[in-house]
Amino acid sequence: MKDLFNPYKLKGLELKNRVIMPPMCQYSVDKKDGIATDWHYLHYVSRAVGGAGLIIIEMTDVEPDGRISDFDLGLWSDEQIPALKKIVDACHSYGAKVGIQIAHAGRKAEDAEVPVAPSAIPFDENSKMPRALSTNEVKEMVEKFRSAVQRAVKAGVDTVEIHGAHGYLIHQFHSPLTNKREDEYGKDLTKFGREIIQAAKAEIPEDMPLIMRISAKEYVEGGYGIKESIAFAREYQQAGVDIFDISSGGEGPIAAWGRPGTHAAYQVPLAQEIKQALDIPVIAVGRLDDPILANAVIGNEAADLVAVGRGMLRNPYWALEAAAKLKKETTTPKQYTTGF
Ligand SMILES: Cc1cc2nc3c(=O)[nH]c(=O)nc-3n(C[C@H](O)[C@H](O)[C@H](O)COP(=O)(O)O)c2cc1C
Repeated sequence: MKDLFNPYKLKGLELKNRVIMPPMCQYSVDKKDGIATDWHYLHYVSRAVGGAGLIIIEMTDVEPDGRISDFDLGLWSDEQIPALKKIVDACHSYGAKVGIQIAHAGRKAEDAEVPVAPSAIPFDENSKMPRALSTNEVKEMVEKFRSAVQRAVKAGVDTVEIHGAHGYLIHQFHSPLTNKREDEYGKDLTKFGREIIQAAKAEIPEDMPLIMRISAKEYVEGGYGIKESIAFAREYQQAGVDIFDISSGGEGPIAAWGRPGTHAAYQVPLAQEIKQALDIPVIAVGRLDDPILANAVIGNEAADLVAVGRGMLRNPYWALEAAAKLKKETTTPKQYTTGF
């Protein structure tokens, strides 16, 4: 039987356990320069000391106007590599593997003067009106993703996660509600995402798996559901995705009927459906803070890996405590063994 503390291997990625820290924006860049700070260093390295098998660094954007806020991380310049490399190296020395989420916020770039999007449709009535990217600009955007991935590899990451969820740019392209284009990127809703996946695959080492986060279900009126997300995820899988990280929502104001579950494990059924339909490894996330529940998700083979977000914001040692609670072997830093 598999459990949360079994090692995990896919291609060249070897994790000591199946506990993941999911990407979580810290909005903590000092100088609006997209460069990681001491805060980021402490934040990520603490979770490595705390026993996470894989740490996925927060949404890191491919251009300045691709940030949710001016205080987000970026990888549009080589100057942003060294601070990330320092974090990656330190996490490695404490036994964690590191991924990074590469993204563009699209119409949800709150500090951009004029955000860009597939079509000029705002997020809601309080949001800025975005400008539709020209076909050439869409192609340039693919190249911006490529360059950011290339820089992530230079920073020493073990895997890359493409952010195709939560209503950000890639999600905006594959959702029929936000993509009303008439060019090739509107006639084929996954073309933009597929081209990014192919560009990313060309930049990462052959044995490095590529992760993609998707919203498997939209919560807006008329939004897509699991049937549609299985179909587009299949196209992304064929383009080169090795692991899906299954989230939901984020695309717009939530319809009254569509409110996401607030109960434990509410996104696990979505992860399991994608896993079974595509026969592909998946990460489950969302209210899985109870180690017994997180362990059951792995034991029941609903998902291959489990991510714990807010639980790890509260407790950097979530993984060490989970191992103690589940009576599983893990490597506790020798300085802390008496604590356990
Ligand atoms: C402070 C905060 C920042 C987040 N930032 C990101 C992000 O950068 N990228 C992303 O895909 N999800 C982001 N999320 C969502 C988390 O990765 C995770 O999917 C969500 O919190 C549900 O998991 P949980 O119930 O374990 O917290 C963020 C969540 C929080 C709480």
